[in-house]
Amino acid sequence: MQTTWAMLICLLGGQLSSATLCTIPGIPGSPGQPGRNGRDGENGLKGERGPPGQAEHEEDMGQKGEPGAPGYPGKIGPRGPQGSKGLQGLTGPPGPPGESGDYKATFKSGFSAARTISTHPRREQPVRFDRIITNERGHYENRYGRFTCRLPGLYYFTYHVTSRGNLCLTLKKGRGGSRGEKVVTFCDYVQGSYQVTTGGVVLRMAVNESVWLEPTEKNNLVGIEGSDSVFSGFLVFPDF
Ligand SMILES: *[C@@H]1O[C@H](CO)[C@@H](O)[C@H](O)[C@H]1NC(C)=O
Repeated sequence: MQTTWAMLICLLGGQLSSATLCTIPGIPGSPGQPGRNGRDGENGLKGERGPPGQAEHEEDMGQKGEPGAPGYPGKIGPRGPQGSKGLQGLTGPPGPPGESGDYKATFKSGFSAARTISTHPRREQPVRFDRIITNERGHYENRYGRFTCRLPGLYYFTYHVTSRGNLCLTLKKGRGGSRGEKVVTFCDYVQGSYQVTTGGVVLRMAVNESVWLEPTEKNNLVGIEGSDSVFSGFLVFPDF
């Protein structure tokens, strides 16, 4: 449009005056639209530290107060770990002297018992020597007619029994209520008169082993006043 106008003016001018008129530059165009904003620049360097601030109304602040009263004590803390073992204490004074050892009191065992039951004993049953003559430490049980070892060692057992007829006596050894084992058997065969039969043996006894006497079917043992029957035993050597 402007070019058209310039050409038209130039044509008209050429006809009216001179050709120089046609070399005059056209009117400058109107300015373009402004460009878009550029991107933000990088952060600048940190500035210097400013002067300390001042209270705006310094005269309003009061004087510094006195310290307050101490607070209540806190709660008890948890128990600490156990400390290490302390040093050993001093040796105490010596104790009083002990009682003198008594071999006789410690290793005593012995018994003698007589039979006062006038009936013949039952075969293969312990003979009850019911009347106790001696029973040191009570190791003989007259209810059963047996001695039970409490002190292990070597024992001597013996019997002296009156009989009026055939008699076989077996000395037995066993535990508890067992039938026991035969150790020795002695028999006497007489008729019509009293006689005293004896037997004896040394036995090693362990704790809780018992010894007793048993008749066979030949059981004419008597135990009456004046013709006694006695069963005895005692510790000879204790085991250590
Ligand atoms: C002996 O017998 C008693 C009671 O009957 C028992 O307590 C003890 O342990 C026994 N001892 C042995 C060595 O058998």
